[in-house]
Amino acid sequence: MVERPYVLLSCGMSIDGYVDDAADQRLLLSNDADFDRVDEVRAGCDAILVGAATIRSDNPRLLVRSAQRRAARVARGLPPSPVKVTVTGSCDLDPEADFFAVGDVDKLVYCAAASVPAAHRRLGDRATVIPAGDPVDLHRITADLAARGIRRLMVEGGGTMHTQFLTAGLADELQLVVAPFFVGDSSAPRFVHDGDFPWGPHRRATLAGVRQIGDVVLLRYALSDRFDPAD
Ligand SMILES: NC(=O)c1ccc[n+]([C@@H]2O[C@H](COP(=O)([O-])OP(=O)(O)OC[C@H]3O[C@@H](n4cnc5c(N)ncnc54)[C@H](OP(=O)(O)O)[C@@H]3O)[C@@H](O)[C@H]2O)c1
Repeated sequence: MVERPYVLLSCGMSIDGYVDDAADQRLLLSNDADFDRVDEVRAGCDAILVGAATIRSDNPRLLVRSAQRRAARVARGLPPSPVKVTVTGSCDLDPEADFFAVGDVDKLVYCAAASVPAAHRRLGDRATVIPAGDPVDLHRITADLAARGIRRLMVEGGGTMHTQFLTAGLADELQLVVAPFFVGDSSAPRFVHDGDFPWGPHRRATLAGVRQIGDVVLLRYALSDRFDPAD
């Protein structure tokens, strides 16, 4: 049987549950100490996944920032940063975006079958384009990642991706950071969208840890039997 990777969802949100504001510029929710913690988590993963809308809006680099952590990965026989992964239906992606243009690591684009030829034309050799069904099937994506040797996958948003991993029962752990301010604008994006989540008032998720990091708080939720508190 093909295993799927251990799936760790990572998100920063405001007190009122927003992951960004409605302005063009990316909203910084964490503090320096927490960004460094996230860097450590990244360095411990084989791949990092973000949705295509996050690439378009935030232009993330998705690389391990610390030179020491990159060197430690290389010493373990790994690439300096994890494989970058995205999911798209339209393949409306700029090959000059930092996701594709920076970092000597593999970039995987899981794409709706109908958009595969367009994706090849648009991205050329900047990424490996992989048909992911029509409609795109997250189970197929995680099985393919496992077959490519990805054992630990970090999902860094946005809300469309988090919602799907949670509602599909494909998440093992949630690391949720709450920043000490409000956004207060219902047109801003939230942590998740509407959905049929496995956890509700009658099936509460397991809170596995709480840590204050300066002015933010990290909440760790165990979402499956695979959760390992030591990780
Ligand atoms: N605070 C944080 O921790 C954090 C982290 C990341 C992002 N964010 C914020 O989140 C916002 C973006 O979130 P979002 O929910 O709009 O988008 P998203 O989850 O980043 O990406 C959604 C896109 O991914 C593709 N996609 C996802 N599932 C798919 C499926 N099953 N089939 C086909 N395509 C699929 C589609 O791309 P196409 O449109 O190309 O078809 C879809 O539009 C931004 O404001 C960003 O700043 C915050």
